[in-house]
Amino acid sequence: MAIVLGIMSSKGGAGKSTITKLISSAFAFTGNTCLIIDLDPNKDIVNWWSTATQTGYVDDKIIVRPATNGDDLFDLVGRYESDVKFILIDTKGEASSWAVDLASVSDVLVVPCMNAKGDRERTQETIDWYEDLKSRAENGERIPPLHVVLSRVKPNLLSHVRGTPKPKDLAAREFERHYEIIDQFNPLVTMVPEKSQYREMDELGPLGAILKRYRESDDNNEKLKAYHFEVALAHAITLVNNIFDNRKMEASDAA
Ligand SMILES: Nc1ncnc2c1ncn2[C@@H]1O[C@H](COP(=O)(O)OP(=O)(O)O)[C@@H](O)[C@H]1O
Ligand SMILES: [Mg+2]
Repeated sequence: MAIVLGIMSSKGGAGKSTITKLISSAFAFTGNTCLIIDLDPNKDIVNWWSTATQTGYVDDKIIVRPATNGDDLFDLVGRYESDVKFILIDTKGEASSWAVDLASVSDVLVVPCMNAKGDRERTQETIDWYEDLKSRAENGERIPPLHVVLSRVKPNLLSHVRGTPKPKDLAAREFERHYEIIDQFNPLVTMVPEKSQYREMDELGPLGAILKRYRESDDNNEKLKAYHFEVALAHAITLVNNIFDNRKMEASDAA
């Protein structure tokens, strides 16, 4: 039976589709078949896959299917759950009628959160929705765990050690908010860094397919690029492992 990951957050531009592409890249690269269900009316993943197909940056371990409502979702999960190892569901957030359906088919929910005031507020709303869902669940009803993932984290914050001085080239408010968000949501240990490789992935296709092209290139510059894609993939695999081993940052003042 496939393991199902639901990516949610009602904030547009929180990094949901990027994380979906990243995680599917990690699954495919490690030899696991993966279905992506695109439940977002913007169809970012469907468009991504159609571009990748046209330009040849595809991976036959990844299958992409659109869905418009909860019925489609149940249908697709039922149809593929014994054929693929993982199912990833990219969405528009919990403010939709199918949000409860999403929670009911998922084994784990992932909520990306960028370092911005709006993201923080919307992430709290998503968590409130989740807590409410849990409190309304009848005895024995299974509600999957929810993990917040810090997304598009700047390199100077990624490598910052808490309690040491603020990195010079970072606004004070952004710096403070980073740790406020950590204390508020206790996110997974692994953050998603801001990386040009992830933007390239957005434009071209899964990381493994890009890596393969660069590795095989005769151009020395492109061969060098392959190294950066290896690093990006390694990070994606670390994130996947963290989603399953559930290690959290834990606020410094938490017991
Ligand atoms: N880790 C990242 N590194 C670089 N760019 C990113 C990263 N995460 C998101 N972005 C960019 O931010 C924008 C919004 O991200 P996206 O994943 O589409 O958000 P959502 O699906 O939640 O609306 C996209 O243009 C994407 O390329
Ligand atoms: Mg999206």
